[in-house]
Amino acid sequence: MRDLSRIIDIEDLRRAARRRLPRPIFGYLDGGAEAEITLRENVRAFEEWIFRPRNASHIDRLQTRRRVCGTELTFPMVLAPIGYSRLMYPGAEIAAARAARARGITYALPTIAGHSIEEVRAAAEGPLWYQLYTIGGRAAVEPALERARKAGYEVLLVTIDTAVAGMRERDLRNGNKQLLGKSLWKKLPYLPSVLAHPGWLWSFWRDGGVPSLPNIVVEGKPLEAMDVTAALADAATTWDDLRWIRAAWPGPIVMKGVLTAEDARRAADAGAEGIVVSNHGGRQLDSVAATLRVLPEIVAAVGEKIEVLFDGGIRRGGDVIKALCLGARAVLLGRAYAYGMAAFGEAGILRALDILSADIERTLKLLGAPSIDALDGSFLQRA
Ligand SMILES: Cc1cc2nc3c(=O)[nH]c(=O)nc-3n(C[C@H](O)[C@H](O)[C@H](O)COP(=O)(O)O)c2cc1C
Repeated sequence: MRDLSRIIDIEDLRRAARRRLPRPIFGYLDGGAEAEITLRENVRAFEEWIFRPRNASHIDRLQTRRRVCGTELTFPMVLAPIGYSRLMYPGAEIAAARAARARGITYALPTIAGHSIEEVRAAAEGPLWYQLYTIGGRAAVEPALERARKAGYEVLLVTIDTAVAGMRERDLRNGNKQLLGKSLWKKLPYLPSVLAHPGWLWSFWRDGGVPSLPNIVVEGKPLEAMDVTAALADAATTWDDLRWIRAAWPGPIVMKGVLTAEDARRAADAGAEGIVVSNHGGRQLDSVAATLRVLPEIVAAVGEKIEVLFDGGIRRGGDVIKALCLGARAVLLGRAYAYGMAAFGEAGILRALDILSADIERTLKLLGAPSIDALDGSFLQRA
């Protein structure tokens, strides 16, 4: 039953996802790296800022639109790339593209997707971005970029914080590797957690089971899902790579995974149109800074030169407003929409977006700010 009427906030979607998903899949979505310090701090950092409203103002018409790296958005939000989405819900990447289109925003299709660049393009009109891992090296990546270009993807997000996959301890405990593999014997100890969720299991089976990854074609074959971790360890994306990526990609390039002013300047010098201040939702190097805490430093360093986007820890529209006040052009939503997607597919993503956009509009009115363009640090103070 798709009972979305009782979903009030993103935490409700998280609970619904936890109910529907087997523990290994929910752990993959919800968890972070190592001790999950950064995962927690990303969320907590929003509590360190409180609002300074301008009361007794009346606002007739709100302005929430923004052009980000050439893409028109009705709200300054982008659906972040979430690898392996299709393990969470059948057709997940298609659902994300459709939901983004329906609400006038955009979706960044991940390299690690169960649906191809072309399938996702065909499923929804509207702007799409593509997220790049250089898995398979130049020989595999250049054709993929050509496919994305031909299909009309507008912006390339180049993820630079994944020299190897982070240490996700929940995934080890829950046997994710074994469950993705082919040996039934090795799966056996972990199967009860999967069998306890027959609804998920049935939909997963009808969607074809573990998908291969059609956007990573190595030696003529799509990569198998279980081979990604090893392939990633061999696929660190470097500043040198940016040169041939630039040559292969005519549109805007946004470097995703910047946490210091130094790297931000380097991205600007390398010719990127933008960056995402991101720690991968606390899933890569643990004990790096919460993204909100480094956003001001990075905006001060490069905000005049390139577009500074932000992600990490956003669970409410008020969080989006805080990031904008601190200088972000727009935010990427990660788990905030992925919980909805995992619980209810497209309807859940739409619910997440509607919750967040209603939050944004209400918060602007309560702040006395008629437009997202009016937001700046004067609307915030330290808690
Ligand atoms: C389950 C999951 C899978 C992810 N997969 C990718 C990926 O394939 N590529 C990528 O660049 N980022 C990936 N990310 C990071 C997100 O794009 C984004 O940076 C992060 O989720 C933002 O933090 P938040 O979830 O707290 O909003 C993933 C995040 C999650 C939660």
